[in-house]
Amino acid sequence: MEKSKVLVVGGTGYIGKRLVKVSFDEGQETYILHIHRPENKYDIDKVQMLLSFKEHGTHLVPGSFSDHQSLVNAVKLVDVVICAIAGVHVRSHQILLQLKLVDAIKDAGNVKRFLPSEFGTDPARMENALEPGRITFDDKMVVRKAIEEARIPFTYISANCFAGYFLGGLCEPCKILPSRDSVTLLGDGNKKGIRNLCR
Ligand SMILES: NC(=O)c1ccc[n+]([C@@H]2O[C@H](COP(=O)([O-])OP(=O)(O)OC[C@H]3O[C@@H](n4cnc5c(N)ncnc54)[C@H](OP(=O)(O)O)[C@@H]3O)[C@@H](O)[C@H]2O)c1
Repeated sequence: MEKSKVLVVGGTGYIGKRLVKVSFDEGQETYILHIHRPENKYDIDKVQMLLSFKEHGTHLVPGSFSDHQSLVNAVKLVDVVICAIAGVHVRSHQILLQLKLVDAIKDAGNVKRFLPSEFGTDPARMENALEPGRITFDDKMVVRKAIEEARIPFTYISANCFAGYFLGGLCEPCKILPSRDSVTLLGDGNKKGIRNLCR
């Protein structure tokens, strides 16, 4: 099978680091956008993670959301762009930073597929979501609209409550470990759920 060149944006995050690992484990030529963030400059764990990715043969590409040309240069290196920028820091609108990535992909003109930062509940089905979570779904829909208007080939991955923030706490709001005291059951308590155990 023909291998792709893949750029991961947000490759130091919870989802992103797993995407990087899978990409290089599968033999894809993998690039990570290395975004210099002054607020993270003393996070030695993240620096070590990036160095470890580099030792495995991944390429670190410097870039910044405030430097359009740096984003264009980065996406020109690859066929596929996967973004896993944070979505849970309510009201900081990091998800909307992807609009700059969409502009860069459009200008570069070479990207065959873009996977924006989704990986959760399908935002198109969340029009009745309540705050504070709602803002993330709304922002993800703004990004989808920009991608589609720019006619960029895309894949949206909706995996529902599959990951750490939800599963560990049995989907109880604001809990990442199961409660020992009480659990709120929604509806009549007979909703079916599927639990997938994976790395
Ligand atoms: N975690 C879950 O349980 C879960 C479940 C379902 C869906 N999701 C979705 O998966 C996606 C990724 O979430 P996550 O939990 O993996 O995120 P995360 O661990 O909080 O971090 C993701 C990445 O975003 C980068 N980032 C954050 N703010 C930034 C900024 N202002 N400028 C540049 N980079 C910035 C971080 O860089 P630094 O390393 O420099 O901080 C990191 O690489 C989101 O769309 C989220 O809604 C997550």
